[in-house]
Amino acid sequence: MKLIPENVIEEIKIKNDIADVVSSYVTLKRAGSNMTGLCPFHNEKTPSFIVFNAAQNFHCFGCGVGGDVVTFIRRMENLEYVDALKFLAKRVGVTVPEDEREGYGGVRKSRLLELNRAAARFFHQCMKSSPEALGYFAKRKLAPQTIRHFGLGFAPNDWNLFTNAMREQGFTENELISARLCGKSEKNGRLFPYFRNRVMFPILDPTGSVIAFGGRVMDNSEPKYLNSPDTPAFKKSRNLFALNFAKDAVTDKELILCEGYMDVIALHAAGFCNAVATLGTALTQEQARIMKRYADSIVLSYDSDNAGRRAAERAIGILSEVGLEVRVIQTAEAKDPDEFIKKFGADAFRKLIATGASSFDFRLRNILMRYDLNSPDAKLSAAKEICEEAAKTSSHVERELYVMRAAEKLGISTETLMYEVKKAAAKRNSAERKSYIEQLERAQSGAGDKVNPERAANLKAAIAEEAILGILLLFPEKISKFTAPDPPLDDSDFVTAFNRRVYTELKALYSSGSTDISLLGASFSPDEISRIYEIQLRRDGLTSNSDEVLEDNIRALKQSGLDKITDINALIKAKRDLK
Ligand code: UTP
Ligand code: MN
Repeated sequence: MKLIPENVIEEIKIKNDIADVVSSYVTLKRAGSNMTGLCPFHNEKTPSFIVFNAAQNFHCFGCGVGGDVVTFIRRMENLEYVDALKFLAKRVGVTVPEDEREGYGGVRKSRLLELNRAAARFFHQCMKSSPEALGYFAKRKLAPQTIRHFGLGFAPNDWNLFTNAMREQGFTENELISARLCGKSEKNGRLFPYFRNRVMFPILDPTGSVIAFGGRVMDNSEPKYLNSPDTPAFKKSRNLFALNFAKDAVTDKELILCEGYMDVIALHAAGFCNAVATLGTALTQEQARIMKRYADSIVLSYDSDNAGRRAAERAIGILSEVGLEVRVIQTAEAKDPDEFIKKFGADAFRKLIATGASSFDFRLRNILMRYDLNSPDAKLSAAKEICEEAAKTSSHVERELYVMRAAEKLGISTETLMYEVKKAAAKRNSAERKSYIEQLERAQSGAGDKVNPERAANLKAAIAEEAILGILLLFPEKISKFTAPDPPLDDSDFVTAFNRRVYTELKALYSSGSTDISLLGASFSPDEISRIYEIQLRRDGLTSNSDEVLEDNIRALKQSGLDKITDINALIKAKRDLK
């Protein structure tokens, strides 16, 4: 099924110049007719990311990622193919016909969103007449306007109320199950609501659609929170609680990140409307990238216990990796920001933000906390760990600042520490280089190749396959021979399944009259698309793409199959001879 008409895709792509689109994420410099910059998909200090203006595609020579503008947006914004096209369409004001795609269980996403909204309304209504829920919110010091603002609700402790109410509004059993609002009893086939006897937190995406729910018990029972599982309308790892409000409240390009729903609600109520939280899982790189869209820096306000500190350390790594500046605040004498605000007020929290520690200081403090600095041995270990930490930044100014602070805390001279930092940095560099080389070697041998796992074991065949595909990708007119009766090559001649799929899809594409290989995006994942572009790019650099080369490779590919058969025959013969 064609999800978006090809002429619309064409228009979207023509209007979204790749250099233009990439420039809003990456600082590009002109290099001849192309542009280069630091790859947004892996961490690097020297640019290996190239945008080819004429071909309207990109490639990173560091991490191998590449593709057209749609692939770029799929990766950058974590979107499905169709959603990436819609994103680009919106950017340039192209109208896309309504997507009637069917998702999980044959239910359309738009229908799931309608159902979620109806459910949120139901829960909110129930809450208004539930003394229990009202009492719980009062105990948590939530003002009526806060409850309304977040659309908080209550899921009654009843097996039929919710289901019947939704059915009355025309939602089917299948839809209720798809939205993961109901489950079906294996014993008697009865439908039951997933959330019962819980206060409800609707989760909205940045466009304001209700995509999921979190539900909290009102006593100490377990589990404390239940969260909607992933559905076609919701991926936990790609959403943040309250981002729908926070994105409009970002000041100084800064977001506050906390752990819990209640922390975020308390912060918003106290005027910190730029607070968001993850949804019951550890922070993901996708979430970090989403935050990067709205902010340059993050104030990390996790719980003050050990688990919170560990989670913060992890989060710092993920946030820094996507280029976000991180400051960490610790709510001493309160277990989390929610409790802190209740105890000490908004002004005190504002002061915390203003004096938040840099991520280095936070780590410095954590390291120092772990060691007894009265023991020379422990002091030495602490110094070593701190120097390794300082070596992580390549900025000499930052290093010096770190060293000065650490020297003061440890009572060791800055010169001595600086010497150690440089040593640690040199070691880091050589370790990085080594791992880079290993990565390259692995890529070349094909081990760990997720796109084409058969490549390594069938290298000879795969190389021939890729030569053929590369030439066909570069010279679509050469396909006619392959789609005519009695073609020089059958699908079954391909040894590796991935390359075979590319060959089949390519023939179908060209036969449909289009030579726009970016349309393959509908059938391949971003990683697979990157591989296809890489196959093309590798041929592009070569001068010999003649029919002769094509024929040679067809022969080589067919021969590689024969090699295998002869191998097997030899084996059979050898076995027989043994008997
Ligand atoms: P917390 O227990 O710190 O949450 O867990 P909180 O919001 O501060 O809880 P209360 O209401 O003040 O006691 C942080 C987050 O971890 C997830 C929830 O998203 C919660 O907001 N979580 C926690 C779960 O998903 N399941 C659980 O059982 C507990
Ligand atoms: Mn809490």
